[in-house]
Amino acid sequence: MCGIVGAVAERNITAILLEGLKRLEYRGYDSAGVAVLDNSGELHRLRRSGKVAELEQAQQQEQLTGRLGIAHTRWATHGAPCERNAHPHFSGDDLAVVHNGIIENHEALRKQLKALGYVFVSDTDTEVIVHLLRHKLDEFGDLTVALKAAAKELHGAYGLAVVSAKQPDRLLAARSGSPLVIGLGMGENFLASDQLALRQVTDRFMYLEEGDIAEIRRDSVQIWDANGQPVARESVQYHEGAEAADKGEYRHFMLKEIHEQPKVVQRTLEGRLGDHQVLVQAFGPEAAELFAKVRNVQIVACGTSYHAGMVARYWLEELAGIPCQVEVASEFRYRKVVVQPDTLFVTISQSGETADSLAALRNAKARTDKEGRYLASLAICNVGISSLVRESDLTLLTQAGPEIGVASTKAFTTQLVGLLLLTLALGQVRGTLAPALEAELIDELRRLPTRLGEALAMDTTVEKISEHFAEKHHTLFLGRGAQYPVAMEGALKLKEISYIHAEAYPAGELKHGPLALVDADMPVVTVAPNNELLEKLKSNLQEVRARGGELIVFADREAGIENGEGTFIVSMPHIHDVLAPILYTLPLQLLSYYVAVLRGTDVDQPRNLAKSVTVE
Ligand code: F6R
Repeated sequence: MCGIVGAVAERNITAILLEGLKRLEYRGYDSAGVAVLDNSGELHRLRRSGKVAELEQAQQQEQLTGRLGIAHTRWATHGAPCERNAHPHFSGDDLAVVHNGIIENHEALRKQLKALGYVFVSDTDTEVIVHLLRHKLDEFGDLTVALKAAAKELHGAYGLAVVSAKQPDRLLAARSGSPLVIGLGMGENFLASDQLALRQVTDRFMYLEEGDIAEIRRDSVQIWDANGQPVARESVQYHEGAEAADKGEYRHFMLKEIHEQPKVVQRTLEGRLGDHQVLVQAFGPEAAELFAKVRNVQIVACGTSYHAGMVARYWLEELAGIPCQVEVASEFRYRKVVVQPDTLFVTISQSGETADSLAALRNAKARTDKEGRYLASLAICNVGISSLVRESDLTLLTQAGPEIGVASTKAFTTQLVGLLLLTLALGQVRGTLAPALEAELIDELRRLPTRLGEALAMDTTVEKISEHFAEKHHTLFLGRGAQYPVAMEGALKLKEISYIHAEAYPAGELKHGPLALVDADMPVVTVAPNNELLEKLKSNLQEVRARGGELIVFADREAGIENGEGTFIVSMPHIHDVLAPILYTLPLQLLSYYVAVLRGTDVDQPRNLAKSVTVE
């Protein structure tokens, strides 16, 4: 989604700002801009719709230089993606603002400001911020005081960076609902919406908290909290992620991230497995006591993370004997829900900043006793400093490392691992999971990274299979039991990055409608581990073949499904049925990747999508 970079230094900072924007490209955006204060005290701006590369090209001609500046990648929410709406937004020629988030009272503010004579030149909600700030600046004379006053009138979510030609010694920042981090240098300081943007200049960071306003100068940082009180925020050294911003030998981040899965699954398991049991304290010191009380689980998430939740429902009910409901956050947050007693509220998110998931968590926490409270909240999340983690009672961090490809891959499989650990922990504490089965699954989990490596070794086989899809417009994905959400995830991956229409069905539903679509132009992808549903699945596959449909089946090598006319089998390593959803996800990721490459799409940044959906 939108990205912010800012800098105040003794040296020229334009290249630093542009490099920062490039590092944020993975979040998705549709225009980019930069504003720099030159050495004669004039504020200059460059904006382009499209990619940062176009902004860089413009910079080569314009050669903006300066020691104070802000930059932005915009993902349109108010107003079309065009240069006029791109940030930075100005009030006069000496005050500039970039903004992530949404100002909910922008219409009322716009009306007030227009009545005061301010002229608006964009359709954005951001422009009200810069004019409001100008208004306060005229009243108070000091930029920091003006920002504190303006912030009080803004409703909604924002991360802001502000510069003024009148006060060229400082870069200002304000955080409310959109993350911001200060990068600390030697005689220079930086600002960004994600520390990844600043890894080129520093490894020391200070994270702003909700309601913070910061005045960042070359040699000092001053922060005020939501109550206007001066606060010190801890500075931390960040080692993770340096390698993540680099594709290494891979053609795309997505392929790199698919191949990282054995390693990151291993990392997610580290420190969490005892000899024969899950270490329940991995979920936090109070987890054991809390888990003993859990009688229900409510899972809420979006997109790929929601699919992980759907797999977990099969595990929680079958292995831990706990009723489980799973729902997409955008629906859940607006629904009147009846809370069953002793329900654990679980959110799953790669970023931990997804607006709908965060709102669902906040609603869940705000419930009163009369409405029925949740027992506690647990976040399964990949970002330790995210809002979701900070606002949940318990956390299990997935250790996928930064995920750059917009289409989620390694985050999903590590979420599944986290959810299986949760299932085992709940079953263990509540005494509903036989210790022998838990021990067996712990052994299987230890072997999982090796199994995943074996699945990835089928890379070239899957690449060959992808040729079947290059010219197709529609596909069906089938699975039964816990493989049904895996089929959903496979279909989501294919549509996201290859733009082929893909739908997933539980295989048993085929004859209740979708079979009407099946013909020679509709490949049907199926995941078929060797379990008690295999025979039923085989009959479903016959139904497809009888209608001339082409079958691509990822099947256990002992499943007894043979290659034949119109049936292409990819033989999978044998795995315990409980862990099969994790293993069978990998070839589906590879399939969508290779189909997208064949179709020449922008694999890492598919059209219209953003990495982190921080607005509703
Ligand atoms: C799909 C994808 C999205 C995300 C969804 C939730 O490949 O990445 O569907 O899964 O936007 O994001 P997080 O997990 O960050 O809450």
